Amino acid sequence: MTEQSPAIHIRELTKTFRIGLRRKRTEALRGLDLDVQPGEIFGFLGPNGAGKTTTIKILVGLLKSDRGQARIFGKSVRDAASRARLAYMPELPDFYDYLKPSEFLLHMGNLAGLDRATSRRRIPELLERVGLDPDEKRPMRKFSKGMLQRVGLAQTMIGDPDLYILDEPMGGLDPMGRRAVKDLIHELGRRGKTVFFSSHVLAEAEAVCHRVAFMRDGKLIRQGELSELLTDKLSPFEILLEGPAAQKDQVLAEKCQSVSPAGKDSLLHLAEGQRPEDLLGWLKDKGYRLHGINRRQTSLEDVFIRTMQDEAEGN
Ligand SMILES: Nc1ncnc2c1ncn2[C@@H]1O[C@H](COP(=O)(O)OP(=O)(O)OP(=O)(O)O)[C@@H](O)[C@H]1O
Ligand SMILES: [Mg+2]
Repeated sequence: MTEQSPAIHIRELTKTFRIGLRRKRTEALRGLDLDVQPGEIFGFLGPNGAGKTTTIKILVGLLKSDRGQARIFGKSVRDAASRARLAYMPELPDFYDYLKPSEFLLHMGNLAGLDRATSRRRIPELLERVGLDPDEKRPMRKFSKGMLQRVGLAQTMIGDPDLYILDEPMGGLDPMGRRAVKDLIHELGRRGKTVFFSSHVLAEAEAVCHRVAFMRDGKLIRQGELSELLTDKLSPFEILLEGPAAQKDQVLAEKCQSVSPAGKDSLLHLAEGQRPEDLLGWLKDKGYRLHGINRRQTSLEDVFIRTMQDEAEGN
């Protein structure tokens, strides 16, 4: 029965925090709807304070929503059984810091219901996979933030769950660490696991996600397949001209968005909606030699920023 259910199903989820003596209200979630299908790698994106961590905490049972529903593989998050198939990595992993990573993982394996022999077999393999020394003798309080983050990831995999809910798994990691996390997420995807993670690192999300959702002010403002989002609005053209002269041409500067150096040549950035053919005759008359025309590659970051701006203007 559960395989037909979405891995994550959220409807009309609402959460308001009240803080201080005056009970100041913060509407962290304002009617969130979201579905994540089994086997998807899903990026949950949004600016600071958008409500990502609040959503994640409700999904893993650390916070209660005020209204609405949240289900994991068909089971309400209010039912502890909904957590049987998921592993969670918090935004700021905070462990039993007097333990060595292997001791901590043994403890987590125990909590996940694994027998000690299985845990002992799995632990060195997991530590290696996240780039930590399986024979590490230091307690975790001596670890850097990035190393703790890696222990946090190893911890999610100990029970081999079906759904991974990761809050900022790439936060605080160096480029090698981010690459390791990306590879891990790819591998989980290949094994048919579902990965739901929040991130500010849009380039990394772009590299691993099937689908992404943008949150803002406690609501989903956009979601879609990565491939759709990256092609929905065609990005502006660029024209490459031979030599540096174009960079000093004031008339040309006014005819397009901007001109920048590109090695020994000049790159003309056209404005949105502007066509190369509007300029080509003029460029030819002025004696410019054309090296090429292309469209700027749209990145997820471009789409994200544009979506946030459109939303801000609409409000
Ligand atoms: N325990 C709390 N008490 C009061 N307000 C809270 C609490 N937790 C979150 N908030 C508020 O709820 C809103 C959403 O916060 P949340 O942590 O979910 O955002 P986020 O999208 O995870 O942001 P970030 O990208 O910075 O991690 C914010 O305005 C935050 O200040
Ligand atoms: Mg957060």
